[in-house]
Order: sequence, then structure tokens, then C-alpha cells
Amino acid sequence: MPFSTHSTAAAQRLDFAQENYRWNEVDTYSMAHSHPASRPNTQALQETLAASDASALPRYALSAPQAKFLALHIRTAGVTHALEVGTLGGYAAIWMASENPQLHVTSIERNAHHAAVARRNIAQAGLAARIEVIQGSALDMLPRLREEVQRGDRPRFGFVLIDADKVNNWVYFQVARDMVSPHAVICVDNVVRDGELVDGDDVDPSVRGSREVVEKVGSMSGVDSVVMQMVGEKGYDGWLWAVVND
Ligand code: DHB
Ligand code: MG
Repeated sequence: MPFSTHSTAAAQRLDFAQENYRWNEVDTYSMAHSHPASRPNTQALQETLAASDASALPRYALSAPQAKFLALHIRTAGVTHALEVGTLGGYAAIWMASENPQLHVTSIERNAHHAAVARRNIAQAGLAARIEVIQGSALDMLPRLREEVQRGDRPRFGFVLIDADKVNNWVYFQVARDMVSPHAVICVDNVVRDGELVDGDDVDPSVRGSREVVEKVGSMSGVDSVVMQMVGEKGYDGWLWAVVND
């Protein structure tokens, strides 16, 4: 049943965005100026969204401004290795890698169909050498990656995007925390959920998973965090932004 809960909540967020049409218009207007269609990655990003729609993937990708913000953060911080939990069609990974020639992305996707679509999109974007899609459950794959990192077979990550099922947010966060470099950011998408984050009685497992990660990261030593609320073409939501100090 978690899937129907997720899609209902996501549909409500999209309805909210349609009612607040200016959220969309501001995203469109701003990106037309901040990232005009003449940019080198425009075609790859448009084709990625079109192929993801054609393959019936859910429209859960980050918005263009959100994904570009992450790409610019990665550039500012000089990140060379990023980890993504939840590839979907590869849209965010393509944004991050196409804006950062120094960047390698390792991305985990549980759904085999999503992973296949993402690999096609990534190859089509010419980024197969810098974006690795690992197909499998993050609950299995993250501990394997952690072993490789701890053995020294894989570099530590300077940025992590957690954007998969929301129930396991806190589990994903803890494993990610073990394999990041000092001053890495770990970003957890979709914690605000139309403001449902503040409802301690909400039985939606995604709300519970979002509250759990916000509360537990907030009391974790060596990590400073903030929740950023956002509106835009994806409705009213926001992410947890956590900086690992050591
Ligand atoms: C859902 C998941 C996401 O990662 C997102 O950005 C929006 C919605 C969901 O499962 O409802
Ligand atoms: Mg998301």
C-alpha cells in the first residue's frame, strides 16, 4: 500500500501547484533567463524527461531549478564524487554531471525498469562514463558501497542526494554519513510534503519517515542541518540539508 499513499500525496502536491500557477510561471520565467535553451545540456535534459514520460515513469524528478541548485552547489564545493539514492530516469544525475565535468555520480535504483530507462538517458546524454547506475535495493547496495569505501576501493562522497522511498530515509542517511568526506552535504528530498511534516499524528509512512530523519539528524553530533521549504512546479515541498562537519 505505500505506493498508493505516495502517488496520492504526489498528485495532491501537483494539484496544489496547478492552483498556484505562479509557482510554475516563476520557475519557467527564471529558468528561461538563468538557464536559456542555448545551454549545452538543454537537449539532453528535455530528452530525458520526454523518454521518462514515454516509459511511464512517475513525475517525481526534481524541478529544473532544484536540480540546477544541486549542480551549482557541487561546483562551489568542488565535489568530485556524488552519491544518489533513487535514480528514477536519471534527470538529477544528468543535471549534476553535465554541469560539472569533474564529477562522478554513483546512483542506486531499485526498480529495474527505471534503471534501464535511466541508463539509456545517461548514455544518450553522453555521460555513461561518469554516471554509474547500480540496480538494486539501497538497503542492500548502500552497505556494499560502504564496505568498498572503508576498504579504500572507492573514494568518499562529497555530496549525497537521498530521493528514494521516504520510509527508509533515516537508514539511508546513517549509511551515507559513514561514507562521506568532511564538509559533505547530505540532502534528503521531499521532507516537507505540503507541510505534513509538522503533523505528528499523520499515519502516512512517508510523513513518519520524513519526521524521523529531520528529528534524528537534528540531534546527531557532528552534523548541522536545516529544512528548506520550497514551492515551484513540483508543488509545496522541501528538503533536509545536512552538513557533515568531520
Ligand atoms: C514522491 C517521491 C519523490 O521523490 C518526489 O520528489 C515526489 C513524490 C512520492 O513518492 O510521492
Ligand atoms: Mg524527490
